[in-house]
Amino acid sequence: MGVYRIRLLPSGHEFQAAAQENLLDAALRSGLNVNFYCSSGSCGECRARLIEGELGPHDFHDYHFSEAQKRQGLFLLCTAHAASDLVVEAGEARSPRDIPHQFIKARLGRVERVGEQLLIVQLRTPRSSPLRFFAGQHVALSIPGVGGIDCSIASCPCNGRLLQFHIPRQPDNPFVAHLFSGLRHGSEVEVAGPFGEMTLDNDSTRPLLLVAQDHELATMKSLAEHAINLDLPQPVRLIWLAREGRHYLENLCRSWSEALDDYHFYPLVYAAGASEAAQVTQLMAVIGSEIAAPGEWDIYWAGSSGFNQILYPQLLAAGADERRLFSPRRRAIGRMV
Ligand code: FES
Repeated sequence: MGVYRIRLLPSGHEFQAAAQENLLDAALRSGLNVNFYCSSGSCGECRARLIEGELGPHDFHDYHFSEAQKRQGLFLLCTAHAASDLVVEAGEARSPRDIPHQFIKARLGRVERVGEQLLIVQLRTPRSSPLRFFAGQHVALSIPGVGGIDCSIASCPCNGRLLQFHIPRQPDNPFVAHLFSGLRHGSEVEVAGPFGEMTLDNDSTRPLLLVAQDHELATMKSLAEHAINLDLPQPVRLIWLAREGRHYLENLCRSWSEALDDYHFYPLVYAAGASEAAQVTQLMAVIGSEIAAPGEWDIYWAGSSGFNQILYPQLLAAGADERRLFSPRRRAIGRMV
């Protein structure tokens, strides 16, 4: 079975698709944000038009095209397979405003406890309702009758069916307390969103500096995994500030060097009780020694609101380009202590 190159118009984005996988799955796996909703041939949201090339047999679908639409080359990405290299006209989300607000009843998957302070939580959406989002966004998670939280998505938008979240302990939040008390595998958790304007600018060719404080690694993990799936060629640097022993995904962060051509990971340890100002000072020392010209980089960072407020003017003072600084603006969900 062949592997084919698919070019999307009008964006010019390209991806590869094996003959046996549908074009929607192949585009998402490559990190592209093509339009879709049901992913099962019912809604018509993934309609596309064949400009060049040959499609293989289609999977069954309920969505109906008129004869005139078929003559125009319209087809569904979620049920179509490539039988040659293709040029296809298809809708793609270009910004968070292009993605509809979604409400999904997901199921609790694996929950990994990291010490006493953090849970890494996986949620599975129904097959017909993957979450569509951009890397860097967040959602509201809730359980009816219990409560909810606002939480960064830690996984890649290339798989909207398996969502990951990093949730620190917050004794005064009933939803989080419920999770820490051992919510059963398979329990229903409602997901609403996505929210947030900070997303990866995948048309930029500038090198990427990713900065995370504590569990806010979640946002940078989503961005890094999206960059890997997009096969971005530019240099990527990740700086992660955390307390001694709290770099809970250190091996994963190191492993990205295998997928990114020019990548370096800096795990920074700050002392227990170190103020946020002291943490920023420590961070800026590394940026000063490792990032030769901050003004040429796209800088993404996520931390507590206090950390963000101190860091922002210091990045500008170090020469960062104000238009290329990206940080999520949302309510913090508590800090690891
Ligand atoms: S996503 Fe609904 S028909 Fe393809």
